[in-house]
Amino acid sequence: MITAATRGSVVVLISGRGSNMLALLRAGQRADSAYAVRAVIADKPDAAGLAAARESGVEARIVAPLPGEARDAYDRRLAAAVAGYSPTLVVLAGFMRILSGAFVEAFEGRLLNVHPSLLPKYPGLHTHRRALAAADLIHGATVHFVTAELDAGPAVIQAQLEVRAGEGEERLGERVLALEHRILPLAVRWYCEGRLAWRGGRPCFDGAPLGAPLRLADVEAFAC
Ligand code: GAR
Repeated sequence: MITAATRGSVVVLISGRGSNMLALLRAGQRADSAYAVRAVIADKPDAAGLAAARESGVEARIVAPLPGEARDAYDRRLAAAVAGYSPTLVVLAGFMRILSGAFVEAFEGRLLNVHPSLLPKYPGLHTHRRALAAADLIHGATVHFVTAELDAGPAVIQAQLEVRAGEGEERLGERVLALEHRILPLAVRWYCEGRLAWRGGRPCFDGAPLGAPLRLADVEAFAC
């Protein structure tokens, strides 16, 4: 049985609106949740998600780059701030900075990111625009372990949708975001339950190496 003492502690890093952070936070506030969001950290002082986190009773703080601060120096300060919470798991939820290898190493195997595409397609920015420009019929979202290479760590779960004829970037983005809000809390829950783990530099699920990402549709079919 999960109690407050056994519940995983999650630190969420954001840069903006924080809708994925809120989806995590809400799922984490359920009495039977395997995790709780311990703190939210933003690199941007005006990140809207900060106020939303505070309104939900969660500690939210800003760790912003100082003028002229080198990336490594910022990442060291950020890593120290995160480590101060001794988190079970660190989640990048719309955190729009590229993290240095040292940061990633410090949290190896306990760092997840949500990305608005079916990785390895469309790492980086403007994923919906690029999917539309390529006339993709299928698009979606990915949760993956973070490695030093941008948006390239092993994927844990993906959710996909069919692109509708004539659909615009904004509407497609909204529909993908709704999928992100489902797969991110699921992956975090699995991690904090011990079902998802990082062993020998690879993800494992239910004790077996995860060769390919889980699919939301399959997971739901088996009521996982
Ligand atoms: C989300 O779509 C997330 O996948 C994306 O930023 C958005 C943040 O929205 N992240 C990336 O593109 C990282 N590569 P949110 O602040 O409302 O969660």
